[in-house]
Amino acid sequence: VSRRVELSYGTGVTPIEVGAAALDGAREWLSEWVSGRTVFVITSAEIEALHGAILTPYLEAAQAVHRLEVPDGEAAKVGSIATDIWSQMLALGGKRDSRLIAFGGGTVTDLGGFIAGCFLRGIEFVGIPTTLLGQVDAAVGGKTGINLPEGKNTVGLFFHPELVLCDTRWLATLDRGDLRAGLMEVVKMAYLLDPPLLDRVEADAEALLVGDAAACEPIVFGAVSAKVGVVERDPTEQGPRKLLNFGHTLGHGIEAVLRYGELRHGEAVGYGMLFALRLSLRRGLDLTAASRLRDVIRSFDLPPLPALDPEALLSAMAKDKKARESGLAWVLARAIGEGWVSTDVELAEVRRELDGFLASPWDLPALR
Ligand SMILES: NC(=O)c1ccc[n+]([C@@H]2O[C@H](COP(=O)([O-])OP(=O)(O)OC[C@H]3O[C@@H](n4cnc5c(N)ncnc54)[C@H](O)[C@@H]3O)[C@@H](O)[C@H]2O)c1
Ligand SMILES: [Zn+2]
Repeated sequence: VSRRVELSYGTGVTPIEVGAAALDGAREWLSEWVSGRTVFVITSAEIEALHGAILTPYLEAAQAVHRLEVPDGEAAKVGSIATDIWSQMLALGGKRDSRLIAFGGGTVTDLGGFIAGCFLRGIEFVGIPTTLLGQVDAAVGGKTGINLPEGKNTVGLFFHPELVLCDTRWLATLDRGDLRAGLMEVVKMAYLLDPPLLDRVEADAEALLVGDAAACEPIVFGAVSAKVGVVERDPTEQGPRKLLNFGHTLGHGIEAVLRYGELRHGEAVGYGMLFALRLSLRRGLDLTAASRLRDVIRSFDLPPLPALDPEALLSAMAKDKKARESGLAWVLARAIGEGWVSTDVELAEVRRELDGFLASPWDLPALR
């Protein structure tokens, strides 16, 4: 079975199919979409080896299918790779009505969408995310882009796919760390946007950590629905979409200080949420609600937090793309299912709280 969520974005609608039959359900649509066209499949050797063969029968109606491999992981999201792929596409006869499929993790869907959005000023593309993080987050919402040495996701555009296929059968081959990283984004959305989804994550934690398709399907569906809900209400991130940055203010800081090694993005966000709980507790979140999130995060056994210098974290956070002239924005929880954004947390408070957090990240401060 597969279930559909639709994302409306002003000038169009992207259907997002979720489930073990997502690809099969789209067979006819895909066949028509590629019919007689040149199709570029952006993927990596790793993903191609694991799951590449699955796509072949769906693309038989194409005039030509070119698989263009990019490096694995973040190394794909660089300008020189994009330039190289554009040249290959031209050399292979790519035209304005050629098709592009981004088949891989979030790095591949970010890069693929960016390549499609700029090639000859934009060609149609389909996102087929193969990681949990790709399915619940990266491939949903229309943000595409690449990194510069100066910072992650610093160049990109909003460019929406024609279709997104989240086939949960592929998740079982992910390693535990990649599943955990995706689950942190799920937990983030569940805690602030969809409390019943949090119940499910708690109940199925073990099955989720091994990528069990049956356990993942409702989780992916719930998270995609939650993300679509806020993105539709706030396409350009002026209001509710900001809630998706829960855990990301410190999370991005941790990633930057660690130079994107040691911890995955989702894992850094897990720690970022723990820190946000501290600030939230000082502003009225009750301890039971805070402990619940802390315990969910803990159940996915994050790697230990490396030693970090608080001043380095503060300066990394100040440089972040999401930081405004007005200072840092913190997404906090008032209660489960109720997030808000605070822009007036004093630096002195952040400093103080960081000291406690870095000394014992899993402790929640007892108030009074
Ligand atoms: N556009 C957005 O709104 C948005 C949102 C969140 C994250 N992102 C981006 O997403 C990226 C992270 O995505 P990611 O976590 O998927 O990382 P990733 O693309 O690097 O994939 C992680 C690893 O999983 C492997 N892999 C992929 N599918 C697999 C499968 N089915 N089985 C086994 N291994 C598989 C990959 O080869 C890779 O080594 C970041 O660049 C981040 O900026 C974008
Ligand atoms: Zn994130």
